[in-house]
Amino acid sequence: MSACVGYSRMCARPPALPLVDFSIGEPRQQAPELVARALTASLQQGLAEYPKVLGEPALRQAIAAWTSRRFTLPTGFLDPDRCILPVNGTREALFSIAQTVINPCQDVKSLVLMPNPFYQIYEGAALLAGAKPHYLNCDPGSGQPDFRAIPESVWERSALLYVNSPHNPTGAALGGEELAWLVGQARRFGVVLAVDECYTEIYFRGPPTGVLSVAAQTGSLDSVLSFHSLSKRSSIPGARSGFVAGDPAILAQFLRYRTYLGAAMPPFIQAASRAAWSDEEHVVESRRSYARKFAAARDILGEHLDIQLPDGGFYLWPEVGDGEAFARELYAAEHVRCLPGAYLAREAHGLHPGHDRVRIALVGSEAECIEGLQRIRRFLDNRPHASSQEKESAWHS
Ligand SMILES: Cc1ncc(COP(=O)(O)O)c(C=O)c1O
Repeated sequence: MSACVGYSRMCARPPALPLVDFSIGEPRQQAPELVARALTASLQQGLAEYPKVLGEPALRQAIAAWTSRRFTLPTGFLDPDRCILPVNGTREALFSIAQTVINPCQDVKSLVLMPNPFYQIYEGAALLAGAKPHYLNCDPGSGQPDFRAIPESVWERSALLYVNSPHNPTGAALGGEELAWLVGQARRFGVVLAVDECYTEIYFRGPPTGVLSVAAQTGSLDSVLSFHSLSKRSSIPGARSGFVAGDPAILAQFLRYRTYLGAAMPPFIQAASRAAWSDEEHVVESRRSYARKFAAARDILGEHLDIQLPDGGFYLWPEVGDGEAFARELYAAEHVRCLPGAYLAREAHGLHPGHDRVRIALVGSEAECIEGLQRIRRFLDNRPHASSQEKESAWHS
């Protein structure tokens, strides 16, 4: 697995077309106006003080209000002072939670469970915390691991389970029943359930269930953490803003860890984040834009590739044969970058679940995405082995 798109450095010089980069999950849409305004209006605030790791109460209250609305939580279920921590993007939080909950001085609970393919940070977090990653291959049909196939002996040795719903790159979200079962297992076996829900606001067939809704039905947040990000929801990856909500006992430990780490959010980012969490209009607009991009992808590529509308997120994840060869040839022919699926997965249990796919992140402007998709179409039209799969797509289901 490679953290960067190394293949493009090794292959033939592409034609003199501007690069279309579909390789990184970095929303490049314009930042919402109200967020930019809140940011610039507060640039002078708080510069003479160290910001608190816990964040300002106003930010935690705005996050609690959004979360309670979005996941229909009972009043008072999510105490903004004990159950919410602002973080500088979910990446750092997903990484550092492993440092907080794993004790490298024992080997009874030495496993960290994660889907495969997966967001690379889960694996690095496990290894750098002194634990061992245990990969759960995603089922090609459901796009999520078969969690029920995890043996009890593996649960017993696990400290942490990363779940990604909706999933990067498959786009599959878990339903309430599956999440409830996972919450039960995590509590039974003393595993921290870290649910990465950073794509939960980019959906097309109704909002995906969140683990906090499921926890609320049990009346408790025990063992559960939910990670959310403004990078995807509000298209501001440069702001580095997100939050973790859940079990107050784990968050108390996490807060202490983070005070040593020095992971506090600057006050002007807190102000911009407050504005973003308090507004839904820009999120609705952003979803519409992604829906138009997926519709364009279906129209342009649907004859050649199995283009699925995901439960959530902004990725295409089609089967293309050898994903790395596809990416290399596409780059050389059309100066379009996508990510070989093999870079997002590990061989595990005799399978390599990403090898025959590529990930195409529809993150540029609509015009740029259409340009890139048309170039992929031209590449496929001219490719000697172009397959015409014409599979049923999710639009028809
Ligand atoms: C599954 C997943 N989780 C977390 C992140 C991190 O996002 P951020 O740190 O911008 O919140 C990403 C970014 O691509 C992601 O794909």
